[in-house]
Amino acid sequence: MKREKFSSSFSVFLATLGSAIGLGNIWRFPYITGMNGGGAFLFVYLICVLLVGIPVMISEFFIGRKTRLNPVLAFEKLGGRKWSVVGYMGIIASLLIMFFYSAVAGWVYSYTFKSLMGKFNGVTLETSKEIFINTITNPKGVILWQIIALLVVAFVLAMGVKGGIERATKILMPILFILILICDIRALTLENSFEGIKFLFAVDFSKLKSSSILTALGLSFFKLSLGVGAMITYASYFTDDDNLMLTSLNVALSDTLISLLAGIAIFPTVFAFNMEPSYGPGLLFITLPLIFSKLPFGNVLLFMFFLLTSIAATTAMLSLVEVSVAYFMEVKKIDRRKSVFIVTCIIALFGSLAALSVEGNVLSNVKILGKSIFDTFDYLSSNILLPLGGILISAFVGYFIRWEEVVLEIVKNHEYRNSVYLRVLLYVLKYITPILILVIFIKELF
Ligand code: TRP
Repeated sequence: MKREKFSSSFSVFLATLGSAIGLGNIWRFPYITGMNGGGAFLFVYLICVLLVGIPVMISEFFIGRKTRLNPVLAFEKLGGRKWSVVGYMGIIASLLIMFFYSAVAGWVYSYTFKSLMGKFNGVTLETSKEIFINTITNPKGVILWQIIALLVVAFVLAMGVKGGIERATKILMPILFILILICDIRALTLENSFEGIKFLFAVDFSKLKSSSILTALGLSFFKLSLGVGAMITYASYFTDDDNLMLTSLNVALSDTLISLLAGIAIFPTVFAFNMEPSYGPGLLFITLPLIFSKLPFGNVLLFMFFLLTSIAATTAMLSLVEVSVAYFMEVKKIDRRKSVFIVTCIIALFGSLAALSVEGNVLSNVKILGKSIFDTFDYLSSNILLPLGGILISAFVGYFIRWEEVVLEIVKNHEYRNSVYLRVLLYVLKYITPILILVIFIKELF
């Protein structure tokens, strides 16, 4: 059977960006930045993207397009049997992420519906908090919406790479961008908005916590969809001549831009309403309805914003689920639709446990090593498996593959072969990336 492929470099860019932009940008990045001291954290984050994010992304692109296989077989082909472990680790990590990610996507879907029903009309800080708590603690509700989100992802994936992933991202990404801009304009014209901008951009290293560096590293992996083989899987569908160096730069840059735009939409509002910037995961769900309640036609805009956040979450989930789907198709020889079905069932099963384990919901008393099920999935994937995957992926490409082979694949048919940037990049990939991740990782664990 012929392997599927994206149809152009632009589709490659949009699908990859669709994977990168998600709840990580719109939900996680703003609140994590808020909890870790704002601008100083941003600075650390940007360094992580440059020294770690981009090199790991290029490594994944290399592995995927060179072999045109799913992560398990790709590692096996390039490095022999024992390296396929890294592929399996990726599959486990991508599933762990999906377990809690689909729960949050469910909250967003439910918010989309609630805003359509006018539930946020005339909302105040108090009622907004109340709606959020009711949303995440209602057992039937969270599971229903999580399953709906999973069905949408399954539906798109069942239509394949071109007919599903490519078509969905092409339509949805531009709309999301325009909506974030509209929110930004409104947030910036609020009274006191400058306080929020100052908070986001003012660099104060004394506010950094000791855990902030690993958090920034984990976040850069999470936001750029790295460490689990999602980018390996997507790159296995890339066009033959796509310039992997430019694609990774464009994606990293655009992803960072969208995160900043999301921060700019949120922090000025936080300050305008005298709320705590370190509010945590509820930031998006509690402050956004407040912003929109101040806008003319706010109801319509709020609905559109949550609809598009749902879309961002959905396009990101496509890549997470596709890792396992590609595995089942190629290793277990199961057809696409059945593979999608199997993977969706696994995620629904464990994902609902994550959804029900949130503070105030029925399983919140179940603790694994002092953490809820939701937090355990999150911690294991974001703080352990993603960095570990990153070390192995970058060290593999840096030390086990000949340099010329990497260059030839990264810039096939392009004139960038001798660019200084590429050379610097390969040095960083070999001598900085894996070592830096290792140091931060070990320091955090012990
Ligand atoms: N990048 C997505 C976000 O920011 C989440 C995501 C999609 C992801 N694919 C991934 C995270 C692969 C880690 C690995 O929301």
